[in-house]
Amino acid sequence: MNYRHAFHAGNAGDCLKHALLVWLLRALARKEAPFAVLDTHAGAGRYDLASGPAERTGEWRSGIARLLDNAPAALRDYLETVRSLGLYPGSPALVRALLRPRDRLACCELHPDDAAGLRRLFVRDRQVAVHHRDGWEALGALLPPPERRGLVLIDPPYEAPDEFERLAAGLLAAHAKFPAGVYAAWYPIKHRAPVRAFHAELRDSGLRDIVAAELLLREPLDPARLNGSGLLVVSPPWRFEAEAEAILAALLERLGDREPGEGTALVRIADE
Ligand SMILES: C[S@@+](CC[C@H](N)C(=O)[O-])C[C@H]1O[C@@H](n2cnc3c(N)ncnc32)[C@H](O)[C@@H]1O
Repeated sequence: MNYRHAFHAGNAGDCLKHALLVWLLRALARKEAPFAVLDTHAGAGRYDLASGPAERTGEWRSGIARLLDNAPAALRDYLETVRSLGLYPGSPALVRALLRPRDRLACCELHPDDAAGLRRLFVRDRQVAVHHRDGWEALGALLPPPERRGLVLIDPPYEAPDEFERLAAGLLAAHAKFPAGVYAAWYPIKHRAPVRAFHAELRDSGLRDIVAAELLLREPLDPARLNGSGLLVVSPPWRFEAEAEAILAALLERLGDREPGEGTALVRIADE
């Protein structure tokens, strides 16, 4: 395990994932019944962008730093939540900020230092459980949640060459255990072939109601670069596609450098 999210926190991929995550959580909160969130690859929870690994790579300078001033309407809720939290929030801190008193978050993290960071962040928080465990295995062990409604965020580091296959298999197994859940899985777009294969595998799997929201910063020709990323959503809440379109457009307007091939896409992979 070499991947440490602290080097990448606040980059364009994080912004795409978190802006849509905030929208998805707000949508879940439209109904009064409590919901549960499972964050299978949680990271450290929050990050100091001004020092250490984030400062060294500076990836956040072409990500969150470009969004915070004069926030576009479609990103306002997301950015106000980020601002309200002080240190830059990872997915666990963002989710925690949007839980209502009866909602719950379970987060899993395999790296011991990041798991320890999460434990410190949520010490004595009765709505959050931190698990130092394998997130793929947690999909089987922690689903379905007792609330029987909620969201599963799957955000692996894509270090292993078979991560897309593992993600497809994980989604299918989790959905079989918790079909009422909303699933959100982030993926990198370095070049197109692995993403096409991933979409095709899901299309052929029989899983229904799948949409992918993608932000491309340039034509994905150089596989050594993160040329864009996507969030695949299974069972998206009502109006996801319309709202995600506005969020993607606002992200592209701020994060794109007008490189050839930049753009956004909402791909319906499987109908309801
Ligand atoms: C992309 S980062 C997560 C970022 C976080 N979701 C966020 O949005 O702030 C992926 C994390 O997964 C962790 N990880 C890697 N393999 C794992 C596994 N099998 N189970 C749980 N966590 C894992 C890594 O240590 C890393 O912190």
